[in-house]
Amino acid sequence: MNINQVHQGDALQLIKKLPDNSVDLIVCDGPYGVTANAWDKVLDIQHYNLHLIQLFSRVLKPGGALYLFGKDNCIDFIDYRPYLNLNRKIIWYQPSRLAQGRINYTNNYDLIAYFTKGKAKTYNLDAIRIPQLVELEHRLRCEKVPSVLKGQYGKTKFNDEGKNPGDVWGDIKQLTYNSKELISRSLLNTIQKPERLIERIVKASSNENDLVLDPFSGVGTTFAVCQKIDRQFIGFEINPEFISITENRIKKIQQEKEYSLFS
Ligand SMILES: C[S@@+](CC[C@H](N)C(=O)[O-])C[C@H]1O[C@@H](n2cnc3c(N)ncnc32)[C@H](O)[C@@H]1O
Repeated sequence: MNINQVHQGDALQLIKKLPDNSVDLIVCDGPYGVTANAWDKVLDIQHYNLHLIQLFSRVLKPGGALYLFGKDNCIDFIDYRPYLNLNRKIIWYQPSRLAQGRINYTNNYDLIAYFTKGKAKTYNLDAIRIPQLVELEHRLRCEKVPSVLKGQYGKTKFNDEGKNPGDVWGDIKQLTYNSKELISRSLLNTIQKPERLIERIVKASSNENDLVLDPFSGVGTTFAVCQKIDRQFIGFEINPEFISITENRIKKIQQEKEYSLFS
């Protein structure tokens, strides 16, 4: 199966063609089981995800990572432990989501379940540090209190390069109608993810030339990120129209890269 290409078809079938232990990272932004899209109509999202986890654990290299996107309950009541280790449940917090709930608290986040096959082989913290604005303000306040000024306590040490992004990601916003990277208005909300979100995942859990699989590749956000930061990529997508959009997107990135090399 060719790499640096999106293959058209059903991910659940196509993945069987990949060899064991061949993929470094899987970015899985597939069905959530909540929207009106035909492809999103899944009877039981938890068991669907368990089946995916089983398939993914075969193709991941030891130590390889899976980031599985979904709603807050997408891995509830299933036993994934024989296949992969759940390292963290990351909350992708979107405060701007319209709070329209009337009989319950409105859901304001997506879950990104971060698994690895055994112990993680790659976690590039330095590549994903974020500014520590809150802590710096806190430090300024603390260092002015008498006990610190009189030297009773050592000054707190902070990494000037920034902090670990933690497990609540509120600093990356969902795309809006005004986002420059939005390919078409019809892709907003249910399809296209922001490149910054995928970039954090790819930078943290893979290295240059590693192989990244996106089994539900949509309009190719993961592929675009891989192309920009030099990862190998393999994608599956059922909708041929989305594959053409991806191919155009990748061509443009390649042209921009070549142009910047020669200018
Ligand atoms: C949420 S979108 C992914 C969007 C992608 N992350 C992006 O930013 O472009 C999910 C995609 O999975 C595709 N899809 C759904 N079921 C599929 C299946 N069984 N096999 C392959 N692709 C599938 C849909 O057509 C849709 O494009």
